[in-house]
Amino acid sequence: MQNLSDVLASSATPDALKAVLTVTTETCIDISNALKQGSLAGILGMAGNENVQGEEQKKLDVISNDMLKDALFACPAVRAIASEEEDYIVPANTDGEYFIAFDPLDGSSNIDINAMVGTIFSIYHQTGDEPATEADFLIPGKEQVAAGYVLYGPSTMLVLTTGQGVNMFTYDPINSVFTLTHENIQVPKETQEFAINMSNQRFWSNSIQNYVNDLVKGKEGLREKNFNMRWVAAMVGDVHRILCRGGVFLYPWDNKDPSKAGKLRLMYEANPMAMLLEQAGGKAHTHTQRILDIQPEAIHQRVAVILGAANEVDKCLTY
Ligand code: AHG
Ligand code: MN
Ligand code: MN
Ligand code: MN
Repeated sequence: MQNLSDVLASSATPDALKAVLTVTTETCIDISNALKQGSLAGILGMAGNENVQGEEQKKLDVISNDMLKDALFACPAVRAIASEEEDYIVPANTDGEYFIAFDPLDGSSNIDINAMVGTIFSIYHQTGDEPATEADFLIPGKEQVAAGYVLYGPSTMLVLTTGQGVNMFTYDPINSVFTLTHENIQVPKETQEFAINMSNQRFWSNSIQNYVNDLVKGKEGLREKNFNMRWVAAMVGDVHRILCRGGVFLYPWDNKDPSKAGKLRLMYEANPMAMLLEQAGGKAHTHTQRILDIQPEAIHQRVAVILGAANEVDKCLTY
């Protein structure tokens, strides 16, 4: 069986990027171990602070952020980081070549119910003679050199792309390695499963209302098939299900937000998931454009997300 280091060694991944990926994934194993202890370690519940986006931080949002930040800072290849839980980008090593944006813990509302959560990361090659600034990192998602997530579910899994397809690794706790278990994942173009938070229905645009109405009506409406619905409340879990068995995921913008930006964050949620989906033969769009083409304007920018089975994303966009 191949493990992560075998796969990276046999690919054209530069040594410095290998180092960043190794540090990131090893820290995720530490996060996974902390999550396993749950209440026993006194790490559940609220941290008592808000992040820059006005969300109440959980203790584990802060703990996992600090673990990743400390580990990546110690890696000479890292030029700077951006995180959901950091107000600004944090310059690390001026000589470093890589910028890492991450969501240290995705699905925070699942922590206290012992349900699925994960860590999402997005990596860019970026060099310069001065310490990094935020402007240096406003790079479109199509420039990502690697992206992935670690899912903390019944087993801990790493899902990774370095631009040559998508591989899934399962963490082997006996040998402390990520073992390759699913190679070159492909998302079927058709699906009969969708994911959306229906409680926002009355705030959606007319086009999303009409599209979802037709999914729900299935064969009794305009569609030739019926649809099932799932919602994990952690993007990482919903995207993982789509990579495993297909589907379409939507977090559209809605009228609660006058800026019509959506909820999910471009740089550490939408972009890495969009790269994974495209590498697996799926699609990832906003209401109007390919996510990976967006020129970011801020590190914590939000964006509408419609991703998954290629034909279903296309269908949604016709509304
Ligand atoms: P985070 O926990 O990192 O702030 O992200 C939560 C996001 C995403 O994971 C998920 O798809 C979505 O919020 C869930 O939103 P609802 O609360 O509307 O279900
Ligand atoms: Mn959050
Ligand atoms: Mn998140
Ligand atoms: Mn988060």
